[in-house]
Amino acid sequence: MDNNKFSAIINTFSTSQQDLMDIAAAVRYDIEEGLKGNTSSLKMLKSYIGLPSGQEEGKYLALDFGGTNLRVVLIELHKNGKFTILKKVAKPLKVAGNYDFVGKGSCAKDMFDFITEIIDEVIEGNKNEEYFLGHTFSFPSSQTNIYNAKLITWTKEFATSGVEGQVVNDLLKESLSRYGFNNVKPIAVINDTVAVLLAAAYKSSDTYIGSIYATGHNTCYFESYPESNSQPMIINLEIGNFYKLAVNKYDTILNNNSELPDHQRLEKMVSGRYIGELFSYCLQDGLQLEKLPDFTSIDLSTILNDNSTTLNDVKTLITNHLSIELSTENARLIQTLAQNIVSRSARIVAATYCGILWHIFPNNIPRHNIVIDGSLFEKMPTVTDNMHEALHQVLGSDSAGINLVLENGGSILGAALAAAMSK
Ligand code: GLC
Repeated sequence: MDNNKFSAIINTFSTSQQDLMDIAAAVRYDIEEGLKGNTSSLKMLKSYIGLPSGQEEGKYLALDFGGTNLRVVLIELHKNGKFTILKKVAKPLKVAGNYDFVGKGSCAKDMFDFITEIIDEVIEGNKNEEYFLGHTFSFPSSQTNIYNAKLITWTKEFATSGVEGQVVNDLLKESLSRYGFNNVKPIAVINDTVAVLLAAAYKSSDTYIGSIYATGHNTCYFESYPESNSQPMIINLEIGNFYKLAVNKYDTILNNNSELPDHQRLEKMVSGRYIGELFSYCLQDGLQLEKLPDFTSIDLSTILNDNSTTLNDVKTLITNHLSIELSTENARLIQTLAQNIVSRSARIVAATYCGILWHIFPNNIPRHNIVIDGSLFEKMPTVTDNMHEALHQVLGSDSAGINLVLENGGSILGAALAAAMSK
């Protein structure tokens, strides 16, 4: 292993305070250009939904579609942040060697029929009772109202044919009707970031920013349109598509080899779907490997969790993947690489939050909760510390009032709230 070459690779993942300030300023600029209808790297998608009053109640079906698992839940809202999960079924969208509803060669009909079969399981075949369904659909969709959401383009390497350009709830309705479930009524579609924000706002007011930091990464915020007569509502930024960022050699290789080159540049630098792959490209180059290894973000988490002096977990992981034995010194370099990839991710994400805060609170930033759901935020070692440090580097003393709050399971609660709010 060429240690100098490896150290140079590690350094390409450093982000300075100035880089973070530039990202925050560019995010704010793009939000404001997007609101004026000018060119922006942010899609600024209207959700046609505001914040909940807290008085929402009743029984709803909630569908969470957009990550590795598909979940359908029957849930009862009891007002003021309270709810009960009555029944829940979760299944992966892809099981290697068995089925795959998201890869190349999969189609809309099979995917939506799979969803209907899970709904069937949750409502136990009941074709008489009326169920209103809220749908958290975690992809960029252009909406004209709370029901009508058309998928603009798949992200996160999904490739199912026949969904892009379609109204997703129409596809769901067609499938429900093929199975005779005309009593299940899809009435609302929201992005997962919107769901997280609704879920948090149901429990406490004064929450305006919701974010997902998981397989994918995205953020939404509540836009009050202080300078126009537009109806206040939550805007899905699709921040994963932000591209005003300094990229390195490995970002470029990953982007060129991805399903949609030049889309989702920020997401490809920060989210769980991609950071393991970035690490793989670095090792391929650093260790001169013929074949690209297949490290995942879970491997990065294992590497970061090894606090021992001998780094045995790091060594074992690398031996299992690459059949090579590492010295402790080399294992340390590999761990530092993983740390830098993860800390760059967390710092970039935090800098984008600062740009959003600057837009919402142009004069001074009050105490504020940013609500976040997702495995990287919840479980990846070092992420929250890096985010807090980056907030401090950009916002200075104002960062003391910014809380990063975990909103676990917001996709389900948010879907039910959207259904309740639009019924
Ligand atoms: C991707 C999707 C976005 C979603 C995010 C988190 O970035 O484009 O809509 O919110 O993943 O799931």
